[in-house]
Amino acid sequence: MPKYRNSLNVDPDDKDPAISRRSFLALMGVGACILGAGQLFGASFLGFLYPNAMKIPPSVFAIGRPDEVLALEGKVFNPQQKVFIETQAGKIRVQTAVCTHLGCTVNMVATGYACPCHGSTYDQYGRNTGGPAPLPLVYFKVFLGASGDIMVDKSKTTLDWADAWFSPIA
Ligand code: FES
Repeated sequence: MPKYRNSLNVDPDDKDPAISRRSFLALMGVGACILGAGQLFGASFLGFLYPNAMKIPPSVFAIGRPDEVLALEGKVFNPQQKVFIETQAGKIRVQTAVCTHLGCTVNMVATGYACPCHGSTYDQYGRNTGGPAPLPLVYFKVFLGASGDIMVDKSKTTLDWADAWFSPIA
């Protein structure tokens, strides 16, 4: 009978060199913990190595065929790209829905746009009118792609809301 209840403590009087069943199970438990921690670390390390570029949506994207897009009269929110697509009398313009303060998505309100995060407000053209937002909401370049789809290029922006219109028919 060992002197100690905790089998990891060595009994100095014990002459038997073989590891006890209890010690073996305790060591297996420690090994499993080390293995689990290693796997957790490995998973987070691989996530770190995975390129971020794969997660960012492309800056040029299609919003549909001209007849489909023009059929949506008014302003429609596109949640994937976080943009407002506005159509009016055969013309299309696309504006960002990303707040210029800290990047929350703004909502359409009667006076223009409002950010739910810190209360920034914008008028109907996206000019910042209140709250901490330092800049207006930009419009993106819209063009007809080679495939016949209406394309939006987020890398080309303008604040000129009249110039932001694109007509696929003209
Ligand atoms: S992120 Fe919109 S007000 Fe702060």
